[in-house]
Amino acid sequence: MKALVLAAGTGSRLRPVTHTGAKQLVPVANKPVLFYALEAIAAARVTDVGIVVGPSADDIREAVDDGSHFGLDVTYIRQEEPLGLAHAVQVSQDFLGDDDFLMYLGDNFVGEGVAHVAAEFRRQRPAAQILLTAVADPTAFGVAELDAEGRVVSLEEKPRVPKSDLAVMGVYLFTSAIHEAIREIKPSARGELEITHAIQWLIEDGRDVRSTISTGYWRDTGNVADMLDVNRHVLDSTVVDHRVAGDVDADSRLTGRVHVAPGARVVRSRIEGPVVIGPGAVVVGSRIGPHTSIAEDCEITGSDIESSIVLCGSTVRDVPAIAASLIGRHTSVVSARPGETHQLVLGDHTRVTLAS
Ligand code: TTP
Repeated sequence: MKALVLAAGTGSRLRPVTHTGAKQLVPVANKPVLFYALEAIAAARVTDVGIVVGPSADDIREAVDDGSHFGLDVTYIRQEEPLGLAHAVQVSQDFLGDDDFLMYLGDNFVGEGVAHVAAEFRRQRPAAQILLTAVADPTAFGVAELDAEGRVVSLEEKPRVPKSDLAVMGVYLFTSAIHEAIREIKPSARGELEITHAIQWLIEDGRDVRSTISTGYWRDTGNVADMLDVNRHVLDSTVVDHRVAGDVDADSRLTGRVHVAPGARVVRSRIEGPVVIGPGAVVVGSRIGPHTSIAEDCEITGSDIESSIVLCGSTVRDVPAIAASLIGRHTSVVSARPGETHQLVLGDHTRVTLAS
């Protein structure tokens, strides 16, 4: 079995971060979202992995390299335009050949991994198997209708009147039958070749399409709120243990699980875990509250920040209350002095909420 990881796409919901970098590389607890996917694939004993890449191909190659760091053998496949998940499969045909494959959306976080569903698929080899989870508002997802045996009888993309509350998660398993289905379908109203349509074609052609219902933690990190939620989830889990390799001065106080990476410095500050502070980051006279990830080489001075992700090389100075924020790479957030005006140099599609 091979794996196909989809890491092209537009990432419009995560602008402006995705103007300059891949959303799959946004760090969660200081590790790119994509790395959790690659680790899950390796744990499912799949080593031959194709990564579908778009404009941010160079960044992804630089981060993942040949995959050997994960115990994987990675091939990069170029998708010139994000024309849909089924289109991503179509451009990967040379790589996939007639092999079975596990398809994983590179911006998805699947808490329980994919080893169990890959094992089930290997045993039963239906034409397709999808992971489903119950959600409160199915209208934003692909929605599956099941028969009594758990076979999928219909699939609908973002239905106005959902037939169930079971959303399609970003993990699929296919035999080569999917290629035939993709050849038969036409682009949807939004101009994409939809994988849900290809799976629906398989169902209507009488093929066996099965599902596994997951009750574990799952998020598509396509928007800021879900990205921050995954950060909270990962920091809350035991993955991040209390480890202080960097320098923490005697005037600082650390509570809860705090990871201070080698080369990081904490001076006259209060860090309330779970928190990760990356290599070379400097925190002075600040409070870093729970569920915060500070990436490498950041400088946080005289500030208070919690429930946030700060990407590498950014500066936050004299800002009293930051929460639920995603701060991009090499960004500066600095307080104006009393009487001064706000001065903003913001990229396209940036969102700023000023407290006063
Ligand atoms: P989506 O989140 O559905 O699409 P997107 O990345 O374009 O984001 P947005 O909706 O905010 O504009 O994509 C899910 C995953 O699949 C993501 O990792 C990108 C990847 N993808 C491709 O590789 N090729 C494609 O043609 C599409 C649509 C997505």
